[in-house]
Amino acid sequence: MTPHCIMNDVSGLRRLVDKVAPRERGGAAPPHARLYPSFARMSLTAARYVVLTALLPNLDPHLVKKTLGLDGDKRPYWHNPPAEVRERLKGVVVLDPFAGGGSIPMEVARLGARAVAVEYNPVQWLALKTIQLAMERGKELIDPRAWEMLKKRYRRGFGADMEAICKNGETEKAGPLAREGCRIALELERELARYYPPRNGKRVAHYIWAKQVRCPRCGAWVPLVMSTRLDKVRTLSWRPIYSGADYDVVVEKGEGIKTVDRGDARCPRCGISVTREYVRKNVGHNDRMVVVATEDKELSPATEADRKAYEDVPDPERLSELLLYDPRSVRPPAYGWKRYGDLFNRRQHHYLNRLVDCVKGVEPGVRTVLAWLVARQADYNSRLTSWDPGKLGVMHTMSYKSVRVSWDYVEVNPFAKGAGSLWNALYDVFDGFAFLVHAMDGAGPFEPVLGSALNLPLPDRSVKYVVTDPPYFDSIPYAESYDFYYVWLKRVVGDIYPEAFSFWTLWRDRSAEDISVGGGRTVEHFKTLLKRAFREIRRVLEDGGVVVVFYAHPKREAWVALAEAFVAAGLVVEDVYPLRMWMPTDVQARGKDSITVAYIFVLRTGSATQAVDMELLREEVRETLEGLATSGYSDVDLAMGAYAVAVKLATHMGLRALELAAAAARSVLRRLNAY
Ligand SMILES: C[S@@+](CC[C@H](N)C(=O)[O-])C[C@H]1O[C@@H](n2cnc3c(N)ncnc32)[C@H](O)[C@@H]1O
Ligand SMILES: [Zn+2]
Repeated sequence: MTPHCIMNDVSGLRRLVDKVAPRERGGAAPPHARLYPSFARMSLTAARYVVLTALLPNLDPHLVKKTLGLDGDKRPYWHNPPAEVRERLKGVVVLDPFAGGGSIPMEVARLGARAVAVEYNPVQWLALKTIQLAMERGKELIDPRAWEMLKKRYRRGFGADMEAICKNGETEKAGPLAREGCRIALELERELARYYPPRNGKRVAHYIWAKQVRCPRCGAWVPLVMSTRLDKVRTLSWRPIYSGADYDVVVEKGEGIKTVDRGDARCPRCGISVTREYVRKNVGHNDRMVVVATEDKELSPATEADRKAYEDVPDPERLSELLLYDPRSVRPPAYGWKRYGDLFNRRQHHYLNRLVDCVKGVEPGVRTVLAWLVARQADYNSRLTSWDPGKLGVMHTMSYKSVRVSWDYVEVNPFAKGAGSLWNALYDVFDGFAFLVHAMDGAGPFEPVLGSALNLPLPDRSVKYVVTDPPYFDSIPYAESYDFYYVWLKRVVGDIYPEAFSFWTLWRDRSAEDISVGGGRTVEHFKTLLKRAFREIRRVLEDGGVVVVFYAHPKREAWVALAEAFVAAGLVVEDVYPLRMWMPTDVQARGKDSITVAYIFVLRTGSATQAVDMELLREEVRETLEGLATSGYSDVDLAMGAYAVAVKLATHMGLRALELAAAAARSVLRRLNAY
């Protein structure tokens, strides 16, 4: 056993990566983060660091720094690795059996090696196909140089004025992706703009709606809202003014009112409280448009003309797939919204249907990329979005990586300028794809596989390296959360990729294989399947091969599962180290008690051969935790360090060491936290 490796950071490079990596999950995210959704997307810099140090552990630190792009002025992920590194890694095969949105295999290929990316979830697999497409046909679909020029010429805020680019006929130069995307947008605008009439000559960007119930006592319509606040800076809000059972809306100075609290409501007219059971039973589809926001953020009550335009929209054919109710991740069925089609209002649904029709008409390559346009537009245009009174824009449906319920919601006019518009989505899709084309230029082979980690399509002892980021216990119920996108994507690309898109829903047809807790899957399910997955990894691994695993979770059970899986597979931890991956404000971190680091395990084949040596165990635990604390890791991050070292010891001394190490850690943590 290599002692106390946990703090080895001889060159100090990990510190640098620690600074850069968390930012890539926030404001400094790479452009493809806005192309396709990936709830567990890992920072590219973190992925590259871990892959590089696993494959070339003795590389000169200067070359490591250069390869990571840490010495340039652009963000590191823009930097493609130098040819000398690519040359050295040519032909090396690296498997990621839990590839997700592809950060690890992408960096494997960018480093010059051959990436085999296995993923069971079709939505994430389509993301992997998109990366492959960027590599194989990218330059034919978008001309990265012409695109950069257009971006510069039409710069607007963080993006470009996509509407002007499309309307000035500029996209001819940038290739078929931009040309087709713009053509579709312009056609749809011509057809549908009349359903979004202007206000005093100005385009309406957003419509704010409230769901409603009738008051069981006075019969008045009760708008259900957490807050009627519209604008934090100007302190504007809206208020219902009743005449009889109905109400008009005023927009005025003030903090606004709140009519729902944890699901229970209060009637603003007569003041009685309405139970959540009543609300759930009666909320249905009685939404009322209350406020409209123009492109220049003028906020005013919705008028009869606004409502009339809405009523004129033809009844759309609705998505018929059922949602599975899950108390943590999918809540709409509790409110009677049982089918995906219930999550969109009439105009939203009609618009999305028409967008699907148009995108379906284009060739498979362009269509694969534009499928993400549909997914993003659905995300920004549902009955589960919400108004952001700080940014005066829309918070998308899956902001919390789950199909939560919102009371008021925002409907976006796709053809106006503003958050969530079709123009913005077009920009994000083109720019994200162009980034992938740049990033994969000259990369090694990249092979997406739609398959399961439980049954890898590889012969015994055929890979030397596995680098992977398995599901973290109950962090994300993947199958259920991704269904929101799946039901749209299948309508766009189902005929191109029938093997991935002929399922009804993921929760019904795929979730038995999902290695996570949630959506009815138990802790036992997770443990059993994680074990099987690691046994399978061991099967395809050459003797003497290396396995690298990312992991983070606040709960003990999650680590027990990991230790058991390693031991069952015959893998021992040689080294483990922390890497900062998230900001404390990150949704991922928030949901997990402010976790900011993942622990990276470096394992080799072998089994527990050492007897439990209490002295060695205590010493290792103490030194590790003290080292972590000295380096500034604290709270849950530090507490996870105790589990990480316990997992390591368990692979050397047997599973009994897990409890012993955890016990030893408790007293050390108490002492460290006392400071
Ligand atoms: C932590 S995420 C990986 C995230 C990835 N590193 C990224 O940067 O996007 C784990 C992935 O494992 C996938 N997964 C769950 N069960 C699986 C199975 N049986 N086989 C393959 N993949 C599975 C999930 O769909 C999810 O995408
Ligand atoms: Zn009432």
